[in-house]
Amino acid sequence: MTSEFSFETVKVDIDDGIAWVLLNRPAKRNAMSPTVNREMMQVLDQLELREDVGVIVFSGEGEAFSAGMDLKEYFRETQGMSAVVQARYRRAATDWMWRRLMHYPKPTIAMVNGWCFGGAFTPLVACDLAIAADEATFGLSEINWGIIPAGNVTRAVAQVMNHRDSLWYIMTGEPFGGQKAAEMGLVNRSVPLAELRAATETLARTLLSKNPTVLRHAKSAFKFVESLDWDTSEAMLGAMAASAAASDPERGRSKGMSQFLDDKSYRPGLEGYRRVEEA
Ligand code: COA
Repeated sequence: MTSEFSFETVKVDIDDGIAWVLLNRPAKRNAMSPTVNREMMQVLDQLELREDVGVIVFSGEGEAFSAGMDLKEYFRETQGMSAVVQARYRRAATDWMWRRLMHYPKPTIAMVNGWCFGGAFTPLVACDLAIAADEATFGLSEINWGIIPAGNVTRAVAQVMNHRDSLWYIMTGEPFGGQKAAEMGLVNRSVPLAELRAATETLARTLLSKNPTVLRHAKSAFKFVESLDWDTSEAMLGAMAASAAASDPERGRSKGMSQFLDDKSYRPGLEGYRRVEEA
């Protein structure tokens, strides 16, 4: 495992293709401050270009995933500042929490290890996949302290949770656990905390075994077409498929075709094509 990164509020460890990116303010339950927001953008920029990183796991150090936006540093201390400066702080937050993460060129997994509140729902939903600990506690707590879930939290919730569940938790602020989060589709799975890291690593290794060019196009295509009508979506998917084929250095499509149709050496319904041929 290597860690040549030295950020004040984010810990990054690279281990055999997986970048474990942990918000690192455990004493503040990984609340997201302006420093976190600035550093997360730098982290994502750096990891994008690293050839030794194929998958990003996003999580938190200690007992929290993240307790949301930092009520002191992000809200109170910016209160007297000019509207322009406040807008800059807001932009720094949303830049990485959804704009950058949503179409990040590498697969992203949110690993929810503990407390997950308010603002933390945005990067959680913007990650492609999510696994939670059964013991994790989620909450749209904004209503409890007199604000609405802004910073695109409400949009993120509406993306993955149904109408009734969204309004229930937005309006009550009631906390819920990992299994409930999985049942509602906020995360893919929930497992006991003791198994969380291993389950996340297994998922990350599955993603690492796939063709990265095609994976990047497949996830982006999905996120683009979600809001399109059928006609525009068909055109978009055609363009994305052509782009994937044209930019794939592995030539996965023709390899797969030939292994199935000519060699009859694998069944695409059940397994992936052989990316590297045995000598
Ligand atoms: N912003 C700023 N500081 C926060 C924070 C937040 N969102 N969440 C926790 N902290 C700080 C606390 O102020 C405290 O700091 P201190 O030690 O300097 O007093 C420290 O983190 C530990 O918090 P504490 O409440 O003592 O921890 P806990 O383990 O008993 O409870 C939580 C954890 C997450 C349940 C509780 O801290 C909490 O409710 N936080 C706010 C969550 C929230 O509503 N977030 C929405 C923001 S959009």
